[in-house]
Amino acid sequence: MKKLMDHMTEELSSAFEKAGYDPALGKVTVSNRPDLCEFQCNGAMAGAKKYRKAPFMIAEEVAENLKGTRLFEKAEVVKPGFINLDLSKEFLAEYLVSMDSDPMLGADRAEKPETIIIDYGGPNVAKPLHVGHLRSAIIGESIKRTGRFLGHNVIGDVHLGDWGLQMGLIITELKHRSPELVYFDDSFKGEYPKEAPFTIGDLEEIYPAASARSKEDEEYRGEALEATEQLQNGKPGYMALWNHIMKVSVADLKKNYERLNVEFDLWKAESDAQPYIPDMVQRMIDEGFAYEDQGALVVDVQQEGDTKEIPPCILLKSDGASLYTTTDLATIVDRAKNYDPDEILYVVDKRQELHFEQVFRCARKTGLIGGDKRLVFLGFGTMNGKDGKPFKTREGGVMRLENLLSDIENEMYKKIIENRSVKDTDAEGTAQIVGLSAVKYGDLQNQATKDYVFDIDRFTSFEGNTGPYILYTIVRIKSILARYVEEGGSLSGLSILPAINQSHKNLMLQLASFGQVAENAFVDKAPHRICAFIYEAANAFNSFYHETKILGQQDEAVKGSLIALLCLTRKVLEQSIELLGFSAPERM
Ligand code: ARG
Repeated sequence: MKKLMDHMTEELSSAFEKAGYDPALGKVTVSNRPDLCEFQCNGAMAGAKKYRKAPFMIAEEVAENLKGTRLFEKAEVVKPGFINLDLSKEFLAEYLVSMDSDPMLGADRAEKPETIIIDYGGPNVAKPLHVGHLRSAIIGESIKRTGRFLGHNVIGDVHLGDWGLQMGLIITELKHRSPELVYFDDSFKGEYPKEAPFTIGDLEEIYPAASARSKEDEEYRGEALEATEQLQNGKPGYMALWNHIMKVSVADLKKNYERLNVEFDLWKAESDAQPYIPDMVQRMIDEGFAYEDQGALVVDVQQEGDTKEIPPCILLKSDGASLYTTTDLATIVDRAKNYDPDEILYVVDKRQELHFEQVFRCARKTGLIGGDKRLVFLGFGTMNGKDGKPFKTREGGVMRLENLLSDIENEMYKKIIENRSVKDTDAEGTAQIVGLSAVKYGDLQNQATKDYVFDIDRFTSFEGNTGPYILYTIVRIKSILARYVEEGGSLSGLSILPAINQSHKNLMLQLASFGQVAENAFVDKAPHRICAFIYEAANAFNSFYHETKILGQQDEAVKGSLIALLCLTRKVLEQSIELLGFSAPERM
């Protein structure tokens, strides 16, 4: 659907053209003086030099051509040459009527849908999810949903970390605790048990114990390194254990992500990339990209014009072991071969920026992926506590995701009970829904690259720029609509009519920008733009609500049109939070 801004710019462009000026001067923008007008065009200022004419005169000529336009109720020239614009209420109402009947709510579906793989989540098997993984999941999920909404083929891949030292540590610790298990009997030739010899609870205790011990005990660490290597070389007993660890962990991870309303299409892992490594490395050697340096096999990725040093990519260490980098390169091979993506987007902690710079350069240099394909790194900042340091538990430990969500839900529950508008039986379910909005909105409202302070108190507040405030606004709309129906009204057959006051018009103007916001948010990978839109829309709605009689409206046609606008507001807000990855309860 044509954007409101494009309608206006076209109108201005033809007015410039008719007056004998370059139509490109007709660009309309949102007013930076909302007290004076809604939109503005500064083209006359820009054209003054080219046409050697006072901007005011140009503007006057252009404004003359806007007389009788359907689009504006005001097109006023002010010194030194701005054109101040107010949109016509009739035109705006018509625009919203067509937006209302558009399933995309004014956004355009991609003309050329692309295949985009989003690499996000990135949990490590057998290690509990911690808050560091929270941001990746929340941001990646939102970008995935927005891309899909716009018609792209977006594939979310969790890219499990399942090939590192943590596996060797767990195996070593198990061996110390239960050396009698068949997995450690090298002469065992039978079939390994189907059941894992541990639960997720055991794993969560085993891993930290093993990790702590390896830091103090050289020999133990050596054992773990050796176990990791043996696993990677396919030792049957260890492979069987690894399979158990994967199964148990993945089941637990899925539960956690479900709670976060995060869903992956692919549950691929670092191990899935391993089969691609030998050929990839061989080719890099054969084609002269990889060479030996102090026993290791490396590829230079420094480029002319670099202002900082970019160290070479290490493909294989001197002992022949592959690394995180090697796995990421081989994963690109896997993805290019099996999905032929136009873009691979990595949503990962920004502290891994150098790693991805090396990987991308190496992939490009060695032609792992077509030159027309995009490799994009979206590095996000750290989630800090109120003390400005990375978020910790009260005891100073790493906060686990589950605990963080429970804390939020408890706080939400307390606030909902204080509010008392919901019966106690609903309060727990509602606290879960609203709690999720608090966490996700609290995160997404920040530009992804920035660090932010995780503040439970602020995030769970019903006031201010928070998830609960947004949901509260949606619930308020739902309850007005429900009351309208209870009083005998019907929600079908209603039509949006021109605004009856300024706050009414402001709400309409705000809703009209949804499509552009969704498109921009996707292009810029910036869910915070959607948050800013939602917040402004919620504020616009609440001002309108306070200044306008809705159900008490005497004129039935006007009342019907206000209800129609409420329906559209709800639709737009619900679609927006759907893009962010949460939903609204019926009541709260
Ligand atoms: N598992 C990694 C971590 O916890 C994140 C993985 C990010 N994705 C990737 N393709 N390297 O740090």
